[in-house]
Amino acid sequence: MRQCVLVEGAFERPEPLVAAMLRAGFGPPVRCETLASALQAVQTSTTELLILPVSSIGAEQRGVLENLLRDSSALAAIGTASEASTEIVLDTMRAGIAEFLLRSATADEFTTAITRLERRWSMAPVRGSVIAVFCPKGGQGATTVAVNLAHAIARRKPKRVAIVDLVVGMGDVALQLDLRPEYDVGELALKVDRLDRELMQSVAADGPDGLAVLAATERLDLAPVLTGDVVSALLAQCRQIYDHTIVDCEHAFESRAVAALDAADTVLLVAQLQVSSLVVAKRTLTIFRELGYDDDKVKVVINREGSTNLVTPAEAQKVLGRAIDARIPNDFGVASEAQAEGKPFQRHASGSALAKSYETLASMLLGPISGRAAKATADTANGNGATKKGRLFGLLRR
Ligand SMILES: Nc1ncnc2c1ncn2[C@@H]1O[C@H](COP(=O)(O)OP(=O)(O)O)[C@@H](O)[C@H]1O
Ligand SMILES: [Mg+2]
Repeated sequence: MRQCVLVEGAFERPEPLVAAMLRAGFGPPVRCETLASALQAVQTSTTELLILPVSSIGAEQRGVLENLLRDSSALAAIGTASEASTEIVLDTMRAGIAEFLLRSATADEFTTAITRLERRWSMAPVRGSVIAVFCPKGGQGATTVAVNLAHAIARRKPKRVAIVDLVVGMGDVALQLDLRPEYDVGELALKVDRLDRELMQSVAADGPDGLAVLAATERLDLAPVLTGDVVSALLAQCRQIYDHTIVDCEHAFESRAVAALDAADTVLLVAQLQVSSLVVAKRTLTIFRELGYDDDKVKVVINREGSTNLVTPAEAQKVLGRAIDARIPNDFGVASEAQAEGKPFQRHASGSALAKSYETLASMLLGPISGRAAKATADTANGNGATKKGRLFGLLRR
């Protein structure tokens, strides 16, 4: 279901228009007293339509509104006023607002405006990015990197980030987040011909900080159904809904993983500072080049860096013939406890170097954190021993 944010006072009689909105596939509008609170709502959720009285645009909000409309092709706005003077209509357009209506607009006029916007929404270039986390060798921490990176990004952009577990049968993204979702990627694969935003959002489970979790299917028999084409369709849909989609891939160059790697804007190759891991990473980089990936598309993430490594980062760079892009420290205590509790590192031990390294990784991929998001990430939650034990026994009983 699509979302609309409506600033009070936009319409004289909003009720008949709300009915038209529901018919056009929108949920009941989120009603905000002021444009400032509406902009806040738009920034923290996936919103397709913002309806506002043009008179509510103060000097303070104008820049934010213009940036939001410029940056998000999925978001459109309708501006309203009591009269349609040339000056008001021009001012509306200058702010990037696509449609103008009178405050007294009828349901028919409103529906016509929505129809014009439909064309715009369908032509909007795809915006969301896809980050695939990959390592053809298991046990290097690919899932851990995918989960904790997705959470670090979700903290900055609540409800705008998804993680997809493409592992068939043995995926453990949901487990690392203490979720037991009712539906999973298998459901999407079986209904791929009907794949749309609604289906996708009904399958996604609610993870921490508004992270949407598309859990792995436990059904091994679905492996032939979850083809590379299905993965491409699934990720294309994710791009329409989420700003960022992080994918945990299977540990092999099989069709699903390659489809995800192809579709990705960025591939994170996870490796450790050990000979066997680096040999695999080097071979993987060669295959990436054969697959036609630009060197820029691939980022090397060294996981579990610590004093026991026999290979130094400088030596690793020499072996790989390229720079290491990110380094995650080894911290067995925090990693194993957080995963036993089913919490991302930021939630379990936000002050730890391990948790902070994921902030750095998110910044490297997205750019520096904004003031507002920085405030949000300052909130922390630490688990206690009782819930941890309870969960452990619960897991063993499953
Ligand atoms: N930075 C880290 N420090 C210590 N242990 C880690 C770290 N990252 C991952 N691990 C541990 O490594 C193991 C494998 O991680 P996992 O994410 O399941 O790997 P993969 O998906 O590559 O098979 C897990 O037991 C996890 O707790
Ligand atoms: Mg894994």
